[in-house]
Amino acid sequence: MIHNSDMTLEVQGLSVSIHTRKGTTKPVNDVSLRIPKGKIIGIVGESGCGKSMTARACMGLLKPPVKIESGRILLAGRDLVGLPESDMCAVRGSEISMIFQEPMTGLNPVMKVGRQVDEAVRVHRHIPASKARQETIRMFEAVGIPEPEARYNSYPHELSGGLRQRVMIAMAMICRPALLIADEPTTALDVTVEAQILRLMKELNKAGTSILLISHNLGVIAQVCDYVYVMYAGQILEEAEVCALFDSPLHPYTRGLLESVNSLRREEPVLETIAGSVPDFLHLPQGCSFSPRCGQCLERCASGEPPLFEPEPGHKVRCHLYDKDTSRI
Ligand SMILES: Nc1ncnc2c1ncn2[C@@H]1O[C@H](COP(=O)(O)OP(=O)(O)OP(=O)(O)O)[C@@H](O)[C@H]1O
Ligand SMILES: [Mg+2]
Repeated sequence: MIHNSDMTLEVQGLSVSIHTRKGTTKPVNDVSLRIPKGKIIGIVGESGCGKSMTARACMGLLKPPVKIESGRILLAGRDLVGLPESDMCAVRGSEISMIFQEPMTGLNPVMKVGRQVDEAVRVHRHIPASKARQETIRMFEAVGIPEPEARYNSYPHELSGGLRQRVMIAMAMICRPALLIADEPTTALDVTVEAQILRLMKELNKAGTSILLISHNLGVIAQVCDYVYVMYAGQILEEAEVCALFDSPLHPYTRGLLESVNSLRREEPVLETIAGSVPDFLHLPQGCSFSPRCGQCLERCASGEPPLFEPEPGHKVRCHLYDKDTSRI
């Protein structure tokens, strides 16, 4: 296959399985994503729908009993699936960086944060120790860490959540990766810090890094993303340019998500706009995984899994309502 050189990352038909004594589940089921160069792509979905699992698969961070069942993860055309750990180590940090929901996950608790960032620069950009220290302090300043020289000598536990997340962003920025995967980077932070972190991510993006931003918060996605994937029970249910998704959502699930945000904004009593809860991966419904919660469910939704339809160019939806042959709308 000819590689599309405009793509930083292309995930094709990725499925991840987990084998347990209770049975085998597929928390990521035939997921395809495209992250074009210079773009910010979002994945949005409720807790447990497989967002982090998709991200960890891209970073080569899945551990047994979780494994990639099928699919390809093409980084600038090179398939990362099945790459030996030594090669994957070289990819992590220099080509793909990840910011975790809880920044402690990405930081060594017994090492000063400045040294950790230094190490990342030295490993990935091969520069001497004295220069690395200077670069780290300069980057701490750039991401808005106050008193960067003093903070250089702090241990992670001595910093607030917002500062730890900035350290992670400094580390990502200093390595100048082609792709940054940010998994709920602001969920643990208050809104003012959230705004600052999102601004930093946009700056990093302007400097040439493509970004995959994972969030369950539609507001965050709307602020920074160019294109959005809506995930539910391990599958992509809808994908579109950010404006199209927010202006004319197609899938009943996406509509429900947006309605719940809007009712929050209007400060009305919060209605449970999407009845029911996310299905358990061990007992997924037959047919469309959203069908038991869907107000527009057709007879065939409970038996046949819908494919991705493309009712408008670039706007795809996995829903039988958009099957041109038998559509009711
Ligand atoms: N190591 C594991 N072993 C077994 N099941 C797991 C493991 N890690 C995750 N899961 C399950 O896989 C599913 C997908 O998890 P994932 O962490 O990707 O969800 P998520 O969309 O990131 O949710 P959240 O918004 O809460 O972070 C969940 O049902 C979760 O319980
Ligand atoms: Mg997660």
